[in-house]
Amino acid sequence: MSYFEDSKIKFEKLRTKKDVLILSVESSCDETSIALVRNGRDVLSNVISSQIDIHKLYGGVVPEIASRNHIKNISSVLRQALSMAGKKLEDVDAVAVTYGAGLMGALLVGVNFAKTLAFALKVPLIAVSHVHGHIGANYISHKDLEPPFLCLMVSGGHTAIVEVQDYCKFKLIGSTVDDSVGECFDKVARVLGLNYPGGPEVDKLAKEGQNVVKFNYKPPLKDSFDFSFSGLKTAVVNFVHNKEQKNEKFSRADVACSFQEIVTDELTHKALKACEKFGFKKLVIAGGVGANSRLREKLQESCEKMGVSLFMPVLKYCTDNAGMIGAIAYYYLKAGKGLADLTLTAKPTVEI
Ligand code: KG4
Ligand code: ZN
Repeated sequence: MSYFEDSKIKFEKLRTKKDVLILSVESSCDETSIALVRNGRDVLSNVISSQIDIHKLYGGVVPEIASRNHIKNISSVLRQALSMAGKKLEDVDAVAVTYGAGLMGALLVGVNFAKTLAFALKVPLIAVSHVHGHIGANYISHKDLEPPFLCLMVSGGHTAIVEVQDYCKFKLIGSTVDDSVGECFDKVARVLGLNYPGGPEVDKLAKEGQNVVKFNYKPPLKDSFDFSFSGLKTAVVNFVHNKEQKNEKFSRADVACSFQEIVTDELTHKALKACEKFGFKKLVIAGGVGANSRLREKLQESCEKMGVSLFMPVLKYCTDNAGMIGAIAYYYLKAGKGLADLTLTAKPTVEI
């Protein structure tokens, strides 16, 4: 029997198995990560080898360098993940991998590694969307959380409001028409002379500033659930360049703070408006920008006021990690979705 014929049979059996151990692989950007996750909720290990210090030198992720470092690190990340979980490769029921969205070369390393493992172990291979993975991070942090709920997806690649009707049923309510919110944080950080990745740096600096800077900017798309951040990004860049050209003093902390206030107001306002309009009493946050302290604060406050329950991943599961991929892969399996054969390849973009 061919690998895939055997895999189809095993996949069907696993759908009703009581305990399922998934080994998951994530390499879509600059983190090489492998996790062992039981039944979508229990993370036995989640090893993340970050390349931040390497890419910092260039002010952002250099795709070719990211791919090379994934190749260099992935085998030792696997060994650590197995040893931390106290498991052997033979204990693994299925291998899951992020196939997109992300950097093509970086994704390919994880995809090929996962294909090889699945083939060698004779277990099913599950192809997972990175965006769904970010939503799945919440199942790890909140053991009782179940769909339906509304999700505010805020990462370096996506900014969207998504109806999560079931574990594997998603409906897009609104999304960015230009830049993602993460990109916008990174760009503002860069113009302020902060390190990569910019989001956490802006978050930190904003705490020392006041919301007193007026940018030449009006929030667009007021009556829609879509977002647009490129105008704000340009307004902040122009403000800083203008001051620098004229040699005028200004507070970088105030710029960070005022920028962050505008962004977090917009995200909070639209997420809560969508909860109201579509009748959701549960709001879930997903993606790296979900680690932003001011966004978390504002969402908490607004949700309390509006009687909406708020769910956010603990900080280490907000940014890229394989744990979240293993979590959602379990629900793919339950829904009979995602089984891949050895022709699986990477995709730089995926639909929500
Ligand atoms: O979800 P993620 O790890 O990767 C993608 O799937 O894109 O998100 C990365 C983005 C980066 O733009 C990073 O600057 C941003 O999340 N980020 C933050 C914070 N921590 C990470 N943005 C604002 N505040 C933070 N604390
Ligand atoms: Zn991500």
